[in-house]
Amino acid sequence: MRVLVVGSGGREHALAWAIAASPLVDRLYCAPGNAGIAEEAECVPIGASDIAGLVDFCRREGIEFVVVGPEAPLVAGLVDALETEGVPAFGPTAAAAAVEGSKGFAKELCDRAGIPTAPWRRFRDSAAAKRYIARKNRMPIVVKADGLAAGKGVTIAHDRNDAFRAVDAALVEQSFGEAGREIVIEDFLAGEELSFFALCDGTDALPLAAARDFKRVGDGDTGPNTGGMGAISPVPALTPVLEGRIMDRVMMPALAAMRVQSRPFKGVLYAGLMLTEEGPRLLEFNARFGDPEAQVLMMRLISDPLPAMLAAHDGVLRRVDLRWHTDAALCVVLAAKGYPDEPERGSTIRGLDRAAADRQVKIFHAATRRHGEELIADGGRVLGVTALGRDYAEARTRAYAAVNQIDWPQGFYRCDIGPR
Ligand code: AMP
Ligand code: GLY
Repeated sequence: MRVLVVGSGGREHALAWAIAASPLVDRLYCAPGNAGIAEEAECVPIGASDIAGLVDFCRREGIEFVVVGPEAPLVAGLVDALETEGVPAFGPTAAAAAVEGSKGFAKELCDRAGIPTAPWRRFRDSAAAKRYIARKNRMPIVVKADGLAAGKGVTIAHDRNDAFRAVDAALVEQSFGEAGREIVIEDFLAGEELSFFALCDGTDALPLAAARDFKRVGDGDTGPNTGGMGAISPVPALTPVLEGRIMDRVMMPALAAMRVQSRPFKGVLYAGLMLTEEGPRLLEFNARFGDPEAQVLMMRLISDPLPAMLAAHDGVLRRVDLRWHTDAALCVVLAAKGYPDEPERGSTIRGLDRAAADRQVKIFHAATRRHGEELIADGGRVLGVTALGRDYAEARTRAYAAVNQIDWPQGFYRCDIGPR
């Protein structure tokens, strides 16, 4: 079949790489893709948010299945537009992607479905928000822009003044535009974080492997939040009992509540969880794979992902079983200096062939492009060096050995990716 992957990050490279190996695929396209994806798929210069352009391309090329990577086109209704034109697509409709597109919607869903989450309130008025904060006597407190803010909409405020500033930034200064017209304020939760993924077909959910990502830019979890500087899978803390509990108390209730609201969720439901002393608590839902979590997941996946994605689309996930390497996978992200604020663009990266010589290592590209023979860094997160090993120590050694082969003085990475 003719398949299109939408997106241009490391996640989409991992998805394209896994899908390209499927015997079901005759031709694989990616819009817009990057220099690494171009080795797995035919890249077409259509932006991930150009809904009309993507629909038009699918009709013209007879695309039979579309896999959407990033959240923005999902929330903007790409899947709805494709399905209206008879093009099957993997991912939620805009109505279902609201679990990610609106934090207030997600929190209401939690309350309705009895999903454990931090106590919260939503506000449009800054004075009311500040009165709520003033009544709280436990700090830190968490202030979140309601809408999509590219990972920058969450402030962990360590005192009331920090929290007031975050409220004003969103509601008064409108630093997040539309996405910050409303905010959610919630209690701070302490614990270890876990990214939990399930394939969903509207009714059923199939748990995928779990992962942990490393959000802070610096070693030892220091510095500002990023999209993710690395990932590991599996997560040592996720026992079968805990997985069962997350499915029963978080994923299945969410699916049931979405169905009741006539927003059946199809695609990947990603629960960002905090493993607190009182049990798992939901931090956020996302409507897609994580990035760089997809890189470690695809590395561990033995089965062909395409039949599972088709089954999720067709509502027959019951029949699917996926096999995973029991090995550990570990991804180290290389980012351009200046990331996450102002990444320097345009530098040349060398040595990738050398670095990728180990067959247990795969280098997923994010923001890269070709200029003649040269590989150019073209954004914040640029490469995701991902390795498999019998255990974390082995995966880690392999990944960092490959990182050390890469000649890119304008890049940086965290040296401490691995289990705690
Ligand atoms: P979110 O986009 O809601 O997942 O928030 C981004 C990050 O902020 C999360 O991955 C956590 O590291 C942190 N975070 C969000 N909400 C909370 C909370 N209630 N307590 C502690 N940390 C949080
Ligand atoms: N790595 C976090 C995310 O994809 O949202």
